[in-house]
Amino acid sequence: MFVIKHRNRRKFAFFCIISLTTLFLSYTYHDPSLYLLKLAFRQPSGDFPKGPCACTTCITQMDDDWFSEHFNQSIPPLLSKKNSLLTEDTYNWWQWLQREKDPANYSDVVQRLFELIPDEEWYIDSEPGRCRTCAVVGNSGNLKGSSYGARIDSHDFVIRMNHAPTLGYEDDVGSKTTHHLMYPESAKHLRNSTSLVLVPFKTLDLEWIISALTTGTITQTYVPVKSRIKANKDKVLVYNPTFFKYVYDTWLENHGRYPSTGFLALMFAIHICDEVSAYGFGADMKGNWHHYWENNPGAGAFRHTGVHDGDYEYNITMLLADKDKIKVFKGR
Ligand SMILES: *[C@@H]1O[C@H](CO)[C@@H](O)[C@H](O)[C@H]1NC(C)=O
Ligand SMILES: *[C@@H]1O[C@H](CO)[C@@H](O)[C@H](O)[C@H]1NC(C)=O
Ligand SMILES: *[C@@H]1O[C@H](CO)[C@@H](O)[C@H](O)[C@H]1NC(C)=O
Ligand SMILES: *[C@@H]1O[C@H](CO)[C@@H](O)[C@H](O)[C@H]1NC(C)=O
Repeated sequence: MFVIKHRNRRKFAFFCIISLTTLFLSYTYHDPSLYLLKLAFRQPSGDFPKGPCACTTCITQMDDDWFSEHFNQSIPPLLSKKNSLLTEDTYNWWQWLQREKDPANYSDVVQRLFELIPDEEWYIDSEPGRCRTCAVVGNSGNLKGSSYGARIDSHDFVIRMNHAPTLGYEDDVGSKTTHHLMYPESAKHLRNSTSLVLVPFKTLDLEWIISALTTGTITQTYVPVKSRIKANKDKVLVYNPTFFKYVYDTWLENHGRYPSTGFLALMFAIHICDEVSAYGFGADMKGNWHHYWENNPGAGAFRHTGVHDGDYEYNITMLLADKDKIKVFKGR
C-alpha cells in the first residue's frame, strides 16, 4: 500500500541526503565541541564518559566547589629555570621565613643550580589515559603496628619526608621511596633510585644542595648541616617557592607561620598524582603526636612547635578526605 514510484523514490532519497547533510553541518557549525563531545561519549568501551584520568577516581575531577576554588593547576610544584623567577612579593615572603642575612643573588644561584641538576618541567603529563597512584607517608606514631607496608609499596609513587627511616620499619611503613622531601637541616642520605625533593626556605638552601652534591663546602646554616649528601643528582628536584606560597595562602589561608613538610608533601602529591593515599598523618589513637621511630609519645614532636598550625592542616586534610579527593589511613 505504501508504494513510491521509482522516480519519486529517487527524489525522496535525494531529499533525505540533503536534509541530513544540512542538519549535520548546522549542528557542527553551531557547536562543533558538542559534536565531538557526543562522539567521545560513544567510546567502544563506554557506558561512561571518560574522566580526566584513567583511575577509578581522579583528583582533577572538578566536582566540588570548595576544591575547585582552592586547586590551581597552573602553578608548577617544582622549580625549573623557566618558572624560577619569583614575584617581589613571593621572594620577600620566602626570604622572610628564616630571615637569612645577606642572601646571595637568587637568580645567580638558580643559574648554577640548573647547571648541576636537570632543568625540566616535571610531571605535566596529566591526561585521560594516565592513572598515577601515590602514597604520602607522614611520620606519625600512628603507623606503629599498622602493617601498612605492602599497601604503601603498591603505589606508583611513595613520598616520604625528613628523617623518616624505612629500615627496620618495613612492615608498617614499606620500603619503597620514589620521592623524599627534605631541607638542609633535615637531610638524609638516599638510595640512587629515590628523587631528593629539596624544600628550600632560603637562598642558602639552594646553595647548600649544590655544595652537598659537589664540593661539600657548606657545613652550617643556622645549625650544623650535612656537608655532603648521598643522592642521585640526576633525580634532584626543587620545591617551587611560588607553589610553597600558594599552599600557605590558598590552602592554609595563612594559618601558622608556614606549612609543615607533611602538608607540603600532600599538596605536592595532589598536584602531580591522580589518586592519593595519606598514611602517618595526625595523632595516634591515644591522641599522642610523635614520630613512628621514637619511643617517646610525650615528645609532641610536631603539633606544638609554634611554627605550623597542625590542627588546621589536619582539618584541611580531613576535608580533602571527606570530599573523596584523598584517602586517609589513620593507623592505630
Ligand atoms: C591560578 O594561578 C595563576 C598564576 O598565579 C593565576 O593567574 C590564576 O588566577 C589562578 N587561578 C585561580 C582559579 O585562582
Ligand atoms: C642578580 O644578578 C643578576 C645578573 O645575574 C642581575 O641582573 C640582578 O640585578 C641581580 N640582583 C640583585 C638583587 O642584585
Ligand atoms: C645511579 O643512577 C644513575 C642513573 O640515574 C646511574 O648513571 C648511576 O651509575 C647510578 N649510580 C649508582 C651508584 O648506582
Ligand atoms: C577544625 O574543624 C572543626 C570542625 O569543623 C572546627 O570545630 C575546628 O575549629 C577546626 N579547627 C581549626 C584549627 O580550624
